[in-house]
Amino acid sequence: MQGITRLQLTYPRLSCPYYLTSSFSFISIYIIGMNRAMSKPLMLRALSGEITPHIPLWLMRQAGRYLPEYQAIRKDFEHFLNFCYTPDAAAEVTLQPIRRFGMDAAILFSDILVIPDALGQKVNFVKGEGPKLEPIEGIQSLRSLDSQRVVEYLAPVFQTIRNVKSQLENDKILIGFSGSPWTLACYMIEGQGSRDFAKARAFMVQQPEAFAYLMQMLVRSISDYCCAQIEAGVDAIQLFDSWAGVAPARQFDVLITRPTAQIVTIIKAKYPKIPIIGFAKGAGALFGEYAAQTGVNALGIDQHLPLEFAKNNRNGKTLQGNLDNVIFASSKREAIAATTQILQQMQDTPFIFNLGHGVLPHTPIEHVASVIETVRGFKR
Ligand code: CP3
Repeated sequence: MQGITRLQLTYPRLSCPYYLTSSFSFISIYIIGMNRAMSKPLMLRALSGEITPHIPLWLMRQAGRYLPEYQAIRKDFEHFLNFCYTPDAAAEVTLQPIRRFGMDAAILFSDILVIPDALGQKVNFVKGEGPKLEPIEGIQSLRSLDSQRVVEYLAPVFQTIRNVKSQLENDKILIGFSGSPWTLACYMIEGQGSRDFAKARAFMVQQPEAFAYLMQMLVRSISDYCCAQIEAGVDAIQLFDSWAGVAPARQFDVLITRPTAQIVTIIKAKYPKIPIIGFAKGAGALFGEYAAQTGVNALGIDQHLPLEFAKNNRNGKTLQGNLDNVIFASSKREAIAATTQILQQMQDTPFIFNLGHGVLPHTPIEHVASVIETVRGFKR
């Protein structure tokens, strides 16, 4: 009795006995903890390996030509890169799909080819033809590039990030991104898109020193650029290796896995808590090697990778993907059926819903809305 009085005196403003107050405080600490966990954005929970009760989603190229509100802003810019370097416009189109559809993540509106542009290579986007770059021919043309100026040159991109972050709701995240070294080297050497990037692959064996120099310059520039995006406020990074599929198997390690691992190591040394999504499109049988050796937190999967294979080779990482963008654009019914199947197969896996590649410009908005509704309606 005396004991309880003494304890009640220690807590003079509480009228209930100690054993109750103590369990109340445990409960309140627990509730605060739960609230914190619950207020952590769904995307970050999935990226940290949690099997979330709802599956988060975003779509590659979610900001783009399929949206009339994008077209309305796009028409003000003759040059695509000027659009990317205008923070107010870029922030606005970054947010457009979130306002319309409420995805769990916004992806910074920019392009992977801002790095060659920042390095000093001539980059142009020709309407209807895609990107055109003045091709790298050898060590001479590489010497004119300057990796020191990348971060300073890309200052408008960091301003876009700050603008987006100031408008984005707390339960959504902003994904920053960069092209990976091999994919950027492909465009820089080839000078344009290609089916097989044969010129870039020939360059690698004919001018191995120049090629290695370029790859190292890219590793440095990409790491600096990603760190600067994180400093400006992005919550996660995606590394796009869109042309991993043209890398021959015997060179996959040198072209894809090792440079990615180097970048991840540099970023993680400075920002260990920022999740990194690696998207090695077309990695195929080498997906497991990429999963095990790059250090990324999550793996993008394209529509060619069987989901069971991805699950068996994910090495503990979160998966993200992989609705076929052609089905998505072509048939609402098929897109919904394929989405449901993906969700069911990913019930028991840390997972983020996405496409296997970017949204195609002719995709009907109605298909986007229906697929999102399907993902939202799915409960594990
Ligand atoms: O919504 C988003 O995903 C964010 C913005 C984004 C763009 N490009 C905008 C863009 C991102 C993440 C990219 C990445 C990108 N860019 C990749 C990697 C992903 C992939 O698709 O494999 C690649 C290879 C590029 C290079 C690139 N940019 C090409 C080949 C093209 C031309 C093709 C086309 O669709 O016209 C671009 C232009 C581009 N980048 C557009 C957009 C919205 C279209 C430009 C326009 O509106 O005129």
